[in-house]
Amino acid sequence: MTIILGIESSCDETGVGIVRLDRDGGLTLLADEVASSVEQHARFGGVVPEVASRAHLEAMVPTMRRAMTAADIALSDVDAIAVTCGPGLAGALLVGVSAAKAYATALNVPLYGVNHLAGHVAADTLEHGPLPTPTLALLVSGGHSQLLRVDDLAGKITEIGSTIDDAAGEAYDKVARVIGLPYPGGPPIDRAAQRGNPTAIAFPRGLTGPRDAKYDFSFSGLKTAVARWVEARERDGEEVPIDDVAASFQEAVADVLTAKAVRAATELGINTMVISGGVAANSRIKALAAQRCQAAGIELRVPRPRLCTDNGAMMAALGAHLVAAGVKPSSLDLSANPALPV
Ligand code: KG4
Ligand code: ZN
Repeated sequence: MTIILGIESSCDETGVGIVRLDRDGGLTLLADEVASSVEQHARFGGVVPEVASRAHLEAMVPTMRRAMTAADIALSDVDAIAVTCGPGLAGALLVGVSAAKAYATALNVPLYGVNHLAGHVAADTLEHGPLPTPTLALLVSGGHSQLLRVDDLAGKITEIGSTIDDAAGEAYDKVARVIGLPYPGGPPIDRAAQRGNPTAIAFPRGLTGPRDAKYDFSFSGLKTAVARWVEARERDGEEVPIDDVAASFQEAVADVLTAKAVRAATELGINTMVISGGVAANSRIKALAAQRCQAAGIELRVPRPRLCTDNGAMMAALGAHLVAAGVKPSSLDLSANPALPV
């Protein structure tokens, strides 16, 4: 039995997770503590890097203590440490990497610098067990919108598509601002959309033309189209039907994400799909993905929302896969790489 500590600080969540790796390769989640600075960013409508770094500094040790208490272990019980070393905000990543190096040195345990995107995929193994390979992963959050082919969680993950502009969550946050809903925009738009008509307004579906990149996404045109539509209504002195705008925008996002993901899985002959990242909590994306995956004979796995948003448990889970696969640990020269590819 091996105890793995996971540390995450790539954006606005300070996460410390603890996972137990059993001899048979099974994973048990022992602790998943997260401190978020999201409220400090709310009035800016997006994450402010300096504010995030400072919040990580303040939250790291208390979050670590809470995780130890929740798992009912002592620091000396930790056998390995996995830390997000990229991609993400440079200053934010550095706080986690520095803390992980300090703990690894003090405890004399191996340190694994791990990829945040791979961590989002690994999160699913905490809920649904080992991942069949290959698996197609759709990662959708405030920072990323990617399609990944996962052949081996501990090694081979290939990006087959990504957004060419805004991430899906970013589009939610910006559209929320346009229609006067609070930050982060995903949850309030999701709620407003339940009351609205998804076919009320025909918003554009980015990159779906015959000559467009098959697996890439674009949400910037959609965001601008929503802003123009709302501006035109306001100029004419008409009331903006917020619920219909939310529902129609959400339908465009869900349609493009699920259509491209199912198409990729089908064309690549992949039978399992994982959707993760904060936007995976979206009710319409989940429902449409379930419907389209079922029609295409694809098994759909979506971890619970708590595991979809940034957390340390997913990094611990990824660390456990590396330990189980006998991957060589990182050196203590490990540094943060904000643009780390998957
Ligand atoms: O994974 P996450 O917590 O942090 C990042 O790495 O970005 O994702 C946050 C994003 C935000 O943009 C938020 O608006 C979006 O996830 N989000 C949602 C929902 N819940 C959160 N988007 C759509 N529908 C939701 N229900
Ligand atoms: Zn993330």
